[in-house]
Amino acid sequence: MDRLLVTGGAGFIGSNFVRFVVERTDVRVVVLDKLTYAASREAVEGLPSGRVELVVGDVCDAAVVGGLVAGLRGEGDAVVHFAAESHNDNSLRDPSPFVQTNIVGTFTVLEAVRRHGVRMHHVSTDEVYGDLELDDPGRFSEATAYNPSSPYSASKAGADHLVRAWVRSFGVRATLSNCSNNYGPWQHVEKFIPRQITNVLDGGRVRLYGAGANVRDWIHAEDHSSAVWTILEKGRVGQTYLVGADGERSNLEVVRLVLQLMGRDPGDFDQVTDRAGHDLRYAIDSTKLRTELGWEPAYTSFEEGLARTVEWYRAHADWWRPKKAAIEAAYAAKGQ
Ligand code: NAD
Ligand code: DAU
Repeated sequence: MDRLLVTGGAGFIGSNFVRFVVERTDVRVVVLDKLTYAASREAVEGLPSGRVELVVGDVCDAAVVGGLVAGLRGEGDAVVHFAAESHNDNSLRDPSPFVQTNIVGTFTVLEAVRRHGVRMHHVSTDEVYGDLELDDPGRFSEATAYNPSSPYSASKAGADHLVRAWVRSFGVRATLSNCSNNYGPWQHVEKFIPRQITNVLDGGRVRLYGAGANVRDWIHAEDHSSAVWTILEKGRVGQTYLVGADGERSNLEVVRLVLQLMGRDPGDFDQVTDRAGHDLRYAIDSTKLRTELGWEPAYTSFEEGLARTVEWYRAHADWWRPKKAAIEAAYAAKGQ
């Protein structure tokens, strides 16, 4: 690869990907990011100057996106599309920005890469497949039917369908990936793991939705980045790759582990109002990515990755603390 346009590159996973690329390659990166509440300018600042340029703009703005994509005509150039509204709880309060950014934003990127003949990788989620029963022996695969539950996952499913249609109808050179739950540095404190870690660091209480039986399949964000890079380099156009690291844990197990790693009693948490329509279990079969493209996760121990994440939040209170009070007030208003 020579040059990448990374949409949403100032967010949790997008910034991890940008860091992954500039630390390991000579690729030049332009980040297009609206800098919503979820973005962190700090996460992309400090990366080698001249290699990363931040353009503040909306992925739904056809003129901005078209102008940036027009500059990417080389064989080694591509758009990596991370930009999205990403939090399920927010999509239950107001679905409108999810439809706009996730569907119209993806449409806007697709039209630009179609016009200029540029390669694209679309970053999506395992949530497009709905959920599994706790005792289902199966996991999601590339053949699983779409069955999204929330406004967030429905908007991501809509975006995926647009990408697939643009590949088939217009010959757009796109690949797709659907990844499971990410954890690691720079994740917004609205999300499950950083919320609990920062609650403990602030002397507050850990909050578990319902009984905590819901299962998520955790992967470190750096492993998601390496998977996206592998797909860019070796993936077949038109193909979907599921990304996961065999990290299934119930929310109750995660809460107990966070408390234990932070020197607290593992039973010291509150059960709060459950999420409406709460998906029960996600689980990824990433055989295709591993066998066809040779990808493997580097973080094989969730416990170790989580311990490092706890230390990162301990060391970066200057970054998360200004965001914390407003997020907790919004959760409190919903009984969460
Ligand atoms: P995030 O909310 O941390 O970051 C999203 C970024 O997109 C932010 O920097 C935000 O400013 C930017 N953005 C939002 N609307 C925009 C717009 N209209 N124009 C330009 N930029 C805009 O999200 P994340 O957790 O880093 O997720 C990134 C992508 O990965 C998303 O597409 C998400 O669906 C997907 N994904 C996330 C996970 C996860 O566990 N977090 C798992 C699988 C897939
Ligand atoms: O599976 C991939 C998806 O993972 C991504 O597409 C989403 O962008 C990402 O946000 C994530 O979605 P979830 O809804 O699974 O993540 P969240 O961190 O919001 O919640 C994880 C689990 O923890 C979920 O079962 C709800 C629960 N939860 C969440 C919060 C915020 C709690 O028990 N307590 C909490 O305070």
